[in-house]
Amino acid sequence: GTLMAEEAKKLAAYAAVDNHIQNNQVVGVGSGSTIVYAVDRLAERVRQEKLNIVCVPTSFQARQLILQHGLTLSDLDRHPELDVAIDGADEVDAALTLIKGGGYDWKIFSIQVFFSVSLHFHLCETPRCHQAQRHIHFLFLPQNRGCLTQEKIVAGCAKHFIVIADYRKDSKALGQQWKKGVPVEVIPMAYVPVSRAIARRFGGEAVLRMAVSKAGPVVTDNSNFILDWKFEHAQNWKEVNTAIKMIPGVVETGLFVGMAERVYFGMEDGRV
Ligand code: A5P
Repeated sequence: GTLMAEEAKKLAAYAAVDNHIQNNQVVGVGSGSTIVYAVDRLAERVRQEKLNIVCVPTSFQARQLILQHGLTLSDLDRHPELDVAIDGADEVDAALTLIKGGGYDWKIFSIQVFFSVSLHFHLCETPRCHQAQRHIHFLFLPQNRGCLTQEKIVAGCAKHFIVIADYRKDSKALGQQWKKGVPVEVIPMAYVPVSRAIARRFGGEAVLRMAVSKAGPVVTDNSNFILDWKFEHAQNWKEVNTAIKMIPGVVETGLFVGMAERVYFGMEDGRV
């Protein structure tokens, strides 16, 4: 299933870049594993079609992706108005409400380790293998950073916000699919009171996200912590998002309500 999901991510990413990127655009570049394929395709088109594209990153990972592909890096100071932003999502419901900022998937992590190691020792002779290995390395660490705040800021500055995802992210009801909950970025000294306030008000529990190594909490690109709120039942996401944001110490939530204009799903059968 996981290799198929990788192929599906690529299909969605390529379709979004081909349909929404034109010459002379300012483009927001999301974070995660799916966006890697979009940046590949974007760089290919920029080279082949000699496009003039300026990229605004949503994270340290996105910034590195832009630089490594030789694309033009900018920021919101210079380009506060974006033509389009493209990003992945952990879950998308029928109203195009998203959960973003998701954490680590151990099953995928171990498969990535396996492929990375085998590519390294046996196969890595051809450029294609080097490229594959590069992808796999990208999938490793950045994923548990949680880039939701910068992602929401950049998406909010874009005229069009386009989401790319594989079929596993298509969700009937948010929270049913992955049971990872809604990430909430918090000021470190407030994580206990915020966690209690969320549980008291909306049920479930809000757990501090720990680093894969368990050496300590995950720290975001903004030096904050992440709570993963595992809720018990579906709610009015717009209201919940607003109410959580009002709790002192909350920086941002991973609920993206009314922001995505279009979502590209790569399907198992190769359709988009
Ligand atoms: C980054 O913290 C997230 O918001 C990602 O954009 C989202 O989780 C999608 O990631 P994948 O493309 O790796 O599924």
